Amino acid sequence: MKSREIANKFLEFFKKNNHKIIESSSLLPSDKTVLLTTAGMQQFVPYFKGEKNPEKELKSRRLTSVQKCFRTSDLGSVGDESHLTFFEMLGNFSIGDYFKKDAINYALKFLTDELKLDKKRIWVTVFKGNNDAPKDMDAIELWKKQGIAEEKIFEFGEKENFWGPPGATGPCGPCSEMHYDLTQKPCNKGKKCGPNCDCGRFLEIWNLVFMEYNFNEKKQYEVLPSKNIDTGMGLERISMIVQKKNNIFETDAFQEIINKIREIGYKKDKDTERMERIIADHLRGTVFLVSDGVRPSNIEQGYILRRVLRKAISYLSLLGAKEDEIIDLCNLIINQYKELNKKEILKIIKEEKDKFQKSLDKGFVEIKIIIDETKKLKKKELPTEDIFKLYDTYGFPIEITKELASKEKLSVNENEFDEMFRKHQEISRAGVEKKFGGVGDFGEQVARQHTATHLLHQALREVLGKEVRQAGSDLTPERIRFDFTFNRALTEEERKKVEDIVNKKIRECLPVKKETKKFKDAQKEGFLAFFRDKYGEEVSAYSIGDFSKEVCAGPHVKNTKEIGKFKIIKEKSSASGIRRIKAVLE
Ligand code: ALA
Repeated sequence: MKSREIANKFLEFFKKNNHKIIESSSLLPSDKTVLLTTAGMQQFVPYFKGEKNPEKELKSRRLTSVQKCFRTSDLGSVGDESHLTFFEMLGNFSIGDYFKKDAINYALKFLTDELKLDKKRIWVTVFKGNNDAPKDMDAIELWKKQGIAEEKIFEFGEKENFWGPPGATGPCGPCSEMHYDLTQKPCNKGKKCGPNCDCGRFLEIWNLVFMEYNFNEKKQYEVLPSKNIDTGMGLERISMIVQKKNNIFETDAFQEIINKIREIGYKKDKDTERMERIIADHLRGTVFLVSDGVRPSNIEQGYILRRVLRKAISYLSLLGAKEDEIIDLCNLIINQYKELNKKEILKIIKEEKDKFQKSLDKGFVEIKIIIDETKKLKKKELPTEDIFKLYDTYGFPIEITKELASKEKLSVNENEFDEMFRKHQEISRAGVEKKFGGVGDFGEQVARQHTATHLLHQALREVLGKEVRQAGSDLTPERIRFDFTFNRALTEEERKKVEDIVNKKIRECLPVKKETKKFKDAQKEGFLAFFRDKYGEEVSAYSIGDFSKEVCAGPHVKNTKEIGKFKIIKEKSSASGIRRIKAVLE
């Protein structure tokens, strides 16, 4: 059974059981507390919370979907047998309709009756309880009633068996996972070898969340108005089992692309196999991110896209790709999914590739020199300062440095690299503060412009939609330049609306508040922000009244009334999918 057939079978099964089929939502969620869609439940959050009525708006309390998801949390694991950044999640949902019993029955029935999996190879985990919530005795009893032997039911704490919320706040609850016994051979842990054992015997396939709570802004678990069900099964993983493959990359969804990568003609070994998996995953992610409106940039989703795309480009070069192999590969992915806008997607990818390839090639020359030097000096570790400079100057991915170093049996000091990365960001922030923070007219003008830019960003999002994201900005004393993701020219009316909103907010004399927060907290609280890897660091989070929330180095005015009058003088294309606004303060 092809993976598309499995997905359709899933939808049909739940449709037969009175579920309404709902289209996948975009990878860009409407919920601002998260950067990307990571689970099928996200588009239903207002229903779970009782803010919207599913019967009225969706005509059903039972829903099912195949949701596109992107998880940056799994970036580091891609290359193994079963992890991906981009994947499709099969889900069934109950909003105040059925609960644990039916969720468990449906899941087992689908796997055994429809997909014909051997029930004996299905093991489960349940929540063992903590101070806030009791052990899930109901789930244990229900699984047993369904014929899952007691020794195949394992109990875990909240890390494994309490799910959500995906952002700072939202619905969540204890969960029960189904794991498939791949090898049917216990490791040396004997009877203790079960789900979540690190020996590779089991694969987690389906998570059933018994959604009872809302984790609120006061960091309390409040009981939701209804008991709900949220489930998620990775399509690629279930395909691997149904198709009896050793890993997800051998399934039909990946085989064509892996074969195409192999046409480059390199020696097949463990390393190159891992690289081809990373390329395949990252290019699928790239295609779908671009398709949903993300454009390569240095912030937020644009940065995630840039990072996976550049990593794929780098690995392709490492494997010996010479020309536009990447375009053929993306073309192939797009062809697998009919609904995608091929021309636009390929154009964006080609532009980024052309932009990056030159620096990458220079980076390859440099890294060779660094490696040769290190070997000459008979050292075992590459000098961190040099490889950081390589990253900083050419955007040379650290992963590629590591690959090349390990080939020569040299190491990279990642802690030192991270430390340098962090320091560097502090310095550039301090630089901005120094440059703009000085006394005199220029400093004040920049503060006015900075605050106006935040107003503009938010106004654009209100008029054109949430997919609008800052893609860059440049300020001179004379004018504001602001780049953002959007794929057509603004109409006269839209342009006027944006300008009016900014001026209205200026007239409302909104206070500008600065708070220092951990980057991660700021992001969770919905501050628009630069995407960073290192979440520990503290950043300045600026709020303008209730209108705008953004992380920024500043400086800003104290009140919007100091800005004066805002006027857009030009709106034009900057790169494909990116528009540029020039504006002045009068
Ligand atoms: N929302 C649950 C998950 O992502 C099903 O695992």
